[in-house]
Amino acid sequence: MAKEKLIFFCKECGYESPKWMGQCPGCKEWNTFSEAPKAVKSSKGHGKSLDSFGAAIKSESKPARINEIKTTKEDRYYTGIGELDRVLGGGIVMGSLTLVGGDPGIGKSTLLLQMCHELSKRNVRVLYVSGEESLKQIKMRADRIGEFGESLLLMSETCLDVVEEYMISGCEYNAGEKQAVPQVMIIDSIQTVYKESVEAAPGSVSQVRECTAAILRIAKQQGISVFVVGHVTKEGAIAGPRMLEHMVDTVLYFEGDNASSYRMLRAVKNRFGSTNELGVFEMKESGLEEVLNPSEYMLQGKPEGEPGSIVTCTMEGTRPIMVEIQALVCQTNFNYPRRTSVGVDINRITLLMAVIEKRLGIHLSDYDAYVNIAGGLRANEPALDLALVAAVLSSYRNRAIDDRMLIFGEVGLVGEVRGVAMAAKRIAEAHKMGYTTCIIPEANMNAVSDPQVKLVGIRNIRELGEFL
Ligand SMILES: Nc1ncnc2c1ncn2[C@@H]1O[C@H](COP(=O)(O)OP(=O)(O)OP(=O)(O)O)[C@@H](O)[C@H]1O
Ligand SMILES: [Mg+2]
Repeated sequence: MAKEKLIFFCKECGYESPKWMGQCPGCKEWNTFSEAPKAVKSSKGHGKSLDSFGAAIKSESKPARINEIKTTKEDRYYTGIGELDRVLGGGIVMGSLTLVGGDPGIGKSTLLLQMCHELSKRNVRVLYVSGEESLKQIKMRADRIGEFGESLLLMSETCLDVVEEYMISGCEYNAGEKQAVPQVMIIDSIQTVYKESVEAAPGSVSQVRECTAAILRIAKQQGISVFVVGHVTKEGAIAGPRMLEHMVDTVLYFEGDNASSYRMLRAVKNRFGSTNELGVFEMKESGLEEVLNPSEYMLQGKPEGEPGSIVTCTMEGTRPIMVEIQALVCQTNFNYPRRTSVGVDINRITLLMAVIEKRLGIHLSDYDAYVNIAGGLRANEPALDLALVAAVLSSYRNRAIDDRMLIFGEVGLVGEVRGVAMAAKRIAEAHKMGYTTCIIPEANMNAVSDPQVKLVGIRNIRELGEFL
């Protein structure tokens, strides 16, 4: 019997090697090599099966002059879910491949099924393939969402070869009519499907890689827009080879706090639109509902006139979102003061508290500090520094600040306040939300020509301390 050929490859970058290695020569990561049967050659005979990533490799292709290539504005399908359309860069691009990752139970299947709901009402032919749930389970979720149109077909299947057949020869959308190729397809999830020709378990690196390559090739040939759900690892990255993210056109992450009902959809890669766009949703009984004014949502329930509560504005892509920063500074009972943070980097807090201690002469080493961004948002923007400093000072002095005041700016190690990007947008958002005063870096003062709110320019944290 012929011995099965095994190969080792790096889970991060896909580097292949006939023997195991501790460090990958490709990406220099340690302990990323795993063993899998050698991938089979594709039946099309493009040499190595890896070549099939290129998807549109055709034997008749030849070099073309750039000025002679005709372009049209990419044809897109509008999903009817505004937040999703925006994150995608203005709708689903025909023939594109999108990877959707997120924690278990966060609502990936719900989001995609809701998208199918809207598309089916617009008579877009959709095929939803689930390898995780039975048709009954999907129907139960669908009943939560509402009435679907006729152009959605569901399939519970894990063998990709079967699915490929339907992608190529089409499905029977109308009884008795000619078969039609789906326009949009969902694979839920890539870790559950397998190709018979690859002798590895579903979810293994080689299966995931080969399945994605096969889907990509057919999708580009047939012009099908495909959404692939991907599981995430403990660290929060999409499971499987890192290369997966390079192969697809768009990578979306669906994230949120399991404790709270709101969810955020982020584009971390998008070949057809801006990255770092953010869509905000709330999980409800009837599925995911768009949150059209995230600032209002984030500031819900903000206490009035309480020390340690400061409102600031963070940018999520091009979108300003106002958030409440809370700090609690109290005398410590330990030898070593505690510093705890939720939603912001703890190192940043430690650093800013050291700056306060040194520049304002306040002995914070006798105090514990707890800092939190209310609402469960995570933000790591330097523009939040000034608000963090203000929250700590406000709580330390036990003095509340004006409730209609917004604070933003970056703080440096010498206590200087530096300018931040998109100041005008942040101020406009504050005005929209009814805020009357903004404390901003002096460097940003001339960025706003016609301020509708009172602006206070600050050069260092001492000035902030005096102003508050
Ligand atoms: N009746 C309901 N009312 C409100 N929320 C619900 C209801 N039913 C389910 N949910 C929410 O939907 C979530 C499940 O969503 P969904 O199955 O789409 O997640 P998923 O990301 O696809 O999960 P998996 O990783 O298991 O595939 C649950 O965790 C719960 O928060
Ligand atoms: Mg699911």
